[in-house]
Amino acid sequence: MYSLLYRRTIRKYSPEPVGNKLLEDLLMAGCRSSTTGNMQVYSVIVTRDEARKKSLAPLHFDQKMITEAPVVLTFCADFNRFTKWCILRNAIPGYDNFLSFITAAIDAVIVAQTVCIAAEAKGLGICYLGTTTYMAHKIVKVLELPKGVIPITTISLGWPAEIPEQVDRLPLEAIVHNEVYRDYTDERIAELYREKELRDDSVQFVKENNKDSLAQVFTDIRYKKDDNITFSRIFLQVLGDQGFMNQ
Ligand SMILES: Cc1cc2nc3c(=O)[nH]c(=O)nc-3n(C[C@H](O)[C@H](O)[C@H](O)COP(=O)(O)O)c2cc1C
Repeated sequence: MYSLLYRRTIRKYSPEPVGNKLLEDLLMAGCRSSTTGNMQVYSVIVTRDEARKKSLAPLHFDQKMITEAPVVLTFCADFNRFTKWCILRNAIPGYDNFLSFITAAIDAVIVAQTVCIAAEAKGLGICYLGTTTYMAHKIVKVLELPKGVIPITTISLGWPAEIPEQVDRLPLEAIVHNEVYRDYTDERIAELYREKELRDDSVQFVKENNKDSLAQVFTDIRYKKDDNITFSRIFLQVLGDQGFMNQ
């Protein structure tokens, strides 16, 4: 619990390698996670090869963690393996649909987070890369993912070469609802976000980006509607291409 409360994302890594045995232990821990029906409908692609990391880098918008971390892990929703097993054993698979994709994506994210917790418990640092879902169509090609497999999230992994400040969180009362969802009034929203908005780094962020509010930094710069629509379209196409929209 202690270490979970003090964790932070690490984006700078020392050149020290992450040994094969240690990585295997982390992946074993990941595979002990809960998984839908014990089907294990996920795969993890380990990237250590410098050339392949270079191929992946632009697909992660050249975020330096990809080339600087000794290990990059791409967690995939994977119904390919399970479907093949079904066919081999004279069972008719019914997993070429959106629900199955969500099932496999949930499995993949749970494994990813367990690997992260195991890694951080060993003193390693991790950073998630949300660019995976933006560029899934191209990552499919670089990692040679067959039909039934879609990249869901990526982490860079290595020994920390920085100890950044912990970043803020909303107060727990903003997140937790007792028994039923209690919707937010404008006053309550203002109250819950006040501390975040008043932080020096937030004020600086708003100023640097020439915006009127912190929320505008999110809507106009970091997570823009146009980008969200574009990447949604691309991802829906990937879902089709990888065989999850046939029913
Ligand atoms: C799904 C997901 C995608 C993320 N994508 C990125 C990313 O592309 N680049 C990055 O630097 N950090 C990324 N992060 C890390 C978040 O920025 C980070 O977790 C958040 O700012 C909170 O900081 P903390 O983890 O240090 O508490 C991602 C985190 C998650 C969960």
